[in-house]
Amino acid sequence: GENMLWGGRFTGGLDPLMVSYNESIYYDRAFHTQDIAGSIAWARANHKGGILSAAEFSAIESGLKKVEKEWAAGTFKIIPGVDEDIHTANERRLGEIIGKEIGGKLHTGRSRNEQVATDMRMWLRDELRKIDTYLSDFLKVIAARAEKEVDYVMPGYTHLQRAQPIRWSHWMLSYGMAFASDLERLREVISRVNLSPLGCGALAGNPFGIDRQMMAEELGFEGLLWNSMAAVSSRDFVVEALQWGATLMGHMSRWAEDLIIYSTQEFAYVKLADAYSTGSSLMPQKKNPDSLELLRGKSGRAFGQMAGFMMTVKGLASTYNKDLQESVEPMLDGIKTYADSIQIATGVLSTLATNPAKMEAALDPFMLATDLADYLVRKGVPFRDTHHISGQCVAFSEKSGTPMNQMKISDFKGIDARFEKDVLACFNYEKSVEMRSAAGGTSKKCVLEQISVLKKMLA
Ligand code: ARG
Repeated sequence: GENMLWGGRFTGGLDPLMVSYNESIYYDRAFHTQDIAGSIAWARANHKGGILSAAEFSAIESGLKKVEKEWAAGTFKIIPGVDEDIHTANERRLGEIIGKEIGGKLHTGRSRNEQVATDMRMWLRDELRKIDTYLSDFLKVIAARAEKEVDYVMPGYTHLQRAQPIRWSHWMLSYGMAFASDLERLREVISRVNLSPLGCGALAGNPFGIDRQMMAEELGFEGLLWNSMAAVSSRDFVVEALQWGATLMGHMSRWAEDLIIYSTQEFAYVKLADAYSTGSSLMPQKKNPDSLELLRGKSGRAFGQMAGFMMTVKGLASTYNKDLQESVEPMLDGIKTYADSIQIATGVLSTLATNPAKMEAALDPFMLATDLADYLVRKGVPFRDTHHISGQCVAFSEKSGTPMNQMKISDFKGIDARFEKDVLACFNYEKSVEMRSAAGGTSKKCVLEQISVLKKMLA
C-alpha cells in the first residue's frame, strides 16, 4: 500500500492476489489517449483558475504529451503492483518525466472517480461513432443489393412454413429496417454518452471553481452532467450501450439464422463466399457458414454482458463503489463484438451469391391460397367464407394430387359456383407480390420506396 499514490495512511502491504484483483491497468490502458487529453484539459482549466502557473501548466502539458507518445510507440512500461490503473500509471510516469514537484500538482481537486467516468465516456463516444459508420455502410450494402436484385421472388415464411411469395429484396429490407432503427437508437445513445462528468470531484464537486464548460468543450463533450454525485456514480451510459448492443446482436442473430437456412443445400437460395466460410477437418466436401454462426453465437455473449452488468449496478449504494470498475470489461468486449460483427455481416452480404432460380423453384401454388381467397373477396364474397372455400381447394388439391394451379375450372366450380374462368390468373407469383402495393408491401414500387426511405436516412 505505501508505494501506491493513495498510500499515505497505509502501513502494511497488500495481499499479492489483492493487487491483481484490484488492478485494472491491463484493460483500462485502452483509455490512455482519453486519460491524457482529460489531464491536459484539467491542467489548462486549473491554470485558468490560478491553481497552476503558466510554466507549471506547460511543463505538465508537454510531459503528458511525452507519456502519450510512449503509449503510442508501445514503450510505456507498466510497473506491476504499482500502476493500479491508467490514471495512476500516467500520473506516476508524468512525475518521473517532469519531476514530482510539478507533477504532483496535476491532481489538485481531482478524483479518479471523475477521471474514469470521463475517460470511459470519451472512449465510448468515439467507438460508437465508428460503429455508426460501420452500420451505415452495412445499410448501404443492403440498399444497393435490394435495388439490384429487386426482381427475385422467393417464398416468405411464417413458422418456417411457406406462407406467401415475397421479393428477396423485401426480405433483405426487413432486416434493413431493423438495423436502421438500431442506427437511430445508436445516435440517441451517443448523445447521452457524450456529456461531461469532469469537474465533479470524488462526489461533491470542485472546490477551486474549475471551469467545467471549458474542459467539456476541449474534450468534445456536447454538454455537462448537472449533479456531481450522479456524474461520478452513474454507469447508465454503459448500460445503455450494452442494451443497444444486445438489441443489435439480436437482429444480427436472426439475420444470420435466416441466411444459414437459405444457404443449406436443401434451400440453396444463397451461397457464402469462401472468405466467410470454413471447411471441415474431416469431411472434404464441407463448406460451413461459420461467419453466420458466430454472429448468431456472439449475440448470447452480448445479452449476457448486458444482464451481468445490470446486476452489478443494481442495489449499489451511492456514489462511487469499486463495483463500478466492473463496467469496463463488458464495455470493451461489447464494443469489439458489435464493431466486428457489423463488419463481418457487411462482408458476408456484399460477397453473397444468390440463386434466383432456386428461390423461384421453391415457390408452390399453395402459397397463393390467400390470393385465391382474395379473388372471391373481389367478387363480393365475405372473407371468412372465401378463406374456407380456398381451404377446400387446398384439400381437393392435396387429396387428388393435382397442384392447385393445374386444377380444372370445373374442379373450382364444383367447390364454389362463384369461381369463374379468370380464377387461373390467381396462380401467378409475380402478380401476387405486385398486388401487395399498399405502403410497406412487397410490390416492386413499395420495395423501391423502402430503399429510398433507407437512403434518405443515410444521406
Ligand atoms: N480504476 C478505477 C475504476 O475503473 C478508477 C476509480 C478508482 N477510484 C477509487 N475511488 N478507488 O473504477
